[in-house]
Amino acid sequence: MLKARRILLIIGGGIAAYKALDLIRRLRERGAAVTPVMTTAAAEFVTPLSAAALAGEAVHGALFDLTREAEMGHIQLSRVADLVVVAPGTADLMAKMAQGLANDLASTLLLATDTPVLVAPAMNVRMWQHAATQRNLTTLRGDGVRFVGPNDGDMACGEYGPGRMAEPLEIVAAAEAMLVGGPLSGRRVVVTSGPTHEPIDPVRYIANRSSGAQGTEIARALAALGAEVVFVTGPAQVPPPEAVEVVRVETAQQMRDAVLAALPVDAAVFAAAVADWRMAEAVTSKMKKAEGRLPVLQFAENPDILAEVSQLSRGRPRLVVGFAAETDNVEAHATAKRLRKGCDWIVANDVSPATGIMGGSENAVTLISGAGAEVWPRMGKRAVGDRLAQRIAETLAAV
Ligand code: C5P
Repeated sequence: MLKARRILLIIGGGIAAYKALDLIRRLRERGAAVTPVMTTAAAEFVTPLSAAALAGEAVHGALFDLTREAEMGHIQLSRVADLVVVAPGTADLMAKMAQGLANDLASTLLLATDTPVLVAPAMNVRMWQHAATQRNLTTLRGDGVRFVGPNDGDMACGEYGPGRMAEPLEIVAAAEAMLVGGPLSGRRVVVTSGPTHEPIDPVRYIANRSSGAQGTEIARALAALGAEVVFVTGPAQVPPPEAVEVVRVETAQQMRDAVLAALPVDAAVFAAAVADWRMAEAVTSKMKKAEGRLPVLQFAENPDILAEVSQLSRGRPRLVVGFAAETDNVEAHATAKRLRKGCDWIVANDVSPATGIMGGSENAVTLISGAGAEVWPRMGKRAVGDRLAQRIAETLAAV
């Protein structure tokens, strides 16, 4: 609930501005008061009258209106809110924020405010991926600005990819998590993700095809529900989520040490594809090719982080979640794995090449717990992350 909270909603000039109207309704449904501010470009997409009618308040547009004595000054307007939400956060607004420009009311408020700021970016895929926007994103994150979205999907401009504004309810959830703390606030969680690299010699290593996408989505979802997340990641293909503590590792042994160092935690989620073996002897110089002689690699077993943490006699997390990537008999193998490892849940998935799950954007999951197996419909890895985080929150609340 957002009762008695005031939100300053800055509506940027993009087609997603129509969703900002719904956002006003959703925020008010939860008890928030909404003060809309529209840029000149925003007023080309939706009318100030619609925003004012939905907010039940006047819409602010031009800087000079506010300099009239009867009106609130821009400094005051920027500070009365508990949260500033920028939706749609256009490339232009993000660039202005990153540069500290203040040449209209919206950018002036964003520069003058001392309240937390949440941006819901919305723009064409190429504009989002442009080096300038990505640079601005990094700068703004460094300044403490929080982001929700953008989502992947069909865009009004006819292209497909990241750039769609987060849905109004996602923005509301992010605002709620920032203002009142989510169901996992005060909980600490460790998440492992990505592959591990086990060196053969200084230039070669053993790896696997894990992209780190699912672990990243789980960590993001847990953080969105308010958890303090320690994200221990091997060399993944996807960037880590925001609002988590990132610990980068390469090998299974380093991953184990980082996980143990992160304890105590309320829950641990082991989504990493950890190499089972490493080289028995670390080779410190590059192995040379020798005519007629093939190298023989001697392996040693890596520590099983999931089993070790599950079986801790002291300081075991209340909930330990493992993953099982199987290619056949998924449920039977995963059920046996849960008992063998001693964890509470196993998130099992079929990674046989025909499913396209390994390295893809979707996942088909069966959740194995003490209560049995629960088959989830095939869904995006983001949705799997959200659902798992929700289940973790419910379980930690109950025990
Ligand atoms: O043993 P297996 O690799 O099939 O089990 C997979 C689960 O165990 C995953 O949750 C993975 O993160 C975890 N694991 C681990 N340490 C290892 C091997 C696997 O934590 N050395």
